Amino acid sequence: MDLFEYQARDIFEKHGVPVLGGVVATTPEEARSGAEELGGGTVVVKAQVKVGGRGKAGGVKLAHTPDEAAARAEEILGMDIKGHTVHRVMIAAGAKIAEEFYFSVLLDRANRSYLAMASVEGGMEIEQLAVERPEALAKVAVDPIVGIDEAKAVEIAEAAGFADDIKAQVVDAFQKLWTVYKEEDATLVEVNPLVRTEDGSIVALDGKVTLDENAGFRHAEHADLEDKAAADPLEAKAKENDLNYVKLDGEVGIIGNGAGLVMSTLDVVAYAGEAHGGVKPANFLDIGGGASAEVMAAGLDVILGDEQVKSVFVNVFGGITACDAVANGIVGALKVLGDAATKPLVVRLDGNNVEEGRAILIEAAHPLVTLADTMDGGADKAAELAHASV
Ligand SMILES: Nc1ncnc2c1ncn2[C@@H]1O[C@H](COP(=O)(O)OP(=O)(O)O)[C@@H](O)[C@H]1O
Ligand SMILES: [Mg+2]
Repeated sequence: MDLFEYQARDIFEKHGVPVLGGVVATTPEEARSGAEELGGGTVVVKAQVKVGGRGKAGGVKLAHTPDEAAARAEEILGMDIKGHTVHRVMIAAGAKIAEEFYFSVLLDRANRSYLAMASVEGGMEIEQLAVERPEALAKVAVDPIVGIDEAKAVEIAEAAGFADDIKAQVVDAFQKLWTVYKEEDATLVEVNPLVRTEDGSIVALDGKVTLDENAGFRHAEHADLEDKAAADPLEAKAKENDLNYVKLDGEVGIIGNGAGLVMSTLDVVAYAGEAHGGVKPANFLDIGGGASAEVMAAGLDVILGDEQVKSVFVNVFGGITACDAVANGIVGALKVLGDAATKPLVVRLDGNNVEEGRAILIEAAHPLVTLADTMDGGADKAAELAHASV
């Protein structure tokens, strides 16, 4: 989960990273009182959208008085920045910047490690710097067990060429940013720019933090950081029901058990779709081990709620949860959904108790359900049905 800058700022502050005051506002009036709260002096009005390059896009503006802050907020609120509408701004205390630096720590999947990056040439887009002047971007591997202790922080600061008179402050900031990364279970902590102000202090002026949702169970407080308004309504509904669901852009709804089976079902349906007008999978949905009627109903309910879906392919391999239980789950789910179930369902069962499972579906003879013998056959039928009703 990516955080807004103001949320990153709050987390930085909690862990002692030097930041400036910041107040969130959703109206020009709130922006004015925010600027007053910060002392009435110079502030920066900053669009809060989860995308970089806000400055260049006109989403970061200076205001010398609370009235100006309100005027700048008026301009920025509602703006579209790279497809993201600005619903709130942060009124940040204005810094007198002498120099801009870059720092980040992130998960380095390729090397199964963490990686810290730093540069004394901040301000520039880091992707551009990495391409144009790779030698100006220090990359230092961080041992996950040791983390960024003082020695590692010194190594990073020296690799990047930070001047001696600010080294101690920078080393301290790096260690605190590491604390953010570790304690909050982040996969990215980026500060661009980290600045030296005219009076010689080091401050994080922009923050980008990505939290690892897999560690959410350790951080009850992280749930409050979620931007519920922006979440896909179907994904939100699936989440409420503890379903592993990802919305995609096609017409064939998919339900399966086990991530691997569901992934290969997506492939098979995409392939089958080529012969049927190019229909594609509409989602990933893994109902996991317990394919009870409730779980099946919750899954079908989410998928049928997707207007783009024209047919559904249920592809289940009976294991500990045997096919007869899954078949009862499907029949039960269709009863629960009643008139809400309107789209054709192709069901392929295999594995434990497959004969019993099929018998249950044949016996129920639900008009929307078609049984398929094989995964390829089921994918083809589901794609054909979807194409027929597009
Ligand atoms: N609080 C602030 N005081 C003074 N200048 C700022 C402040 N925040 C940002 N800036 C300036 O605006 C630039 C862009 O802001 P930043 O927060 O990095 O947004 P983005 O990275 O999305 O463009 C910074 O590089 C910095 O020069
Ligand atoms: Mg920035």
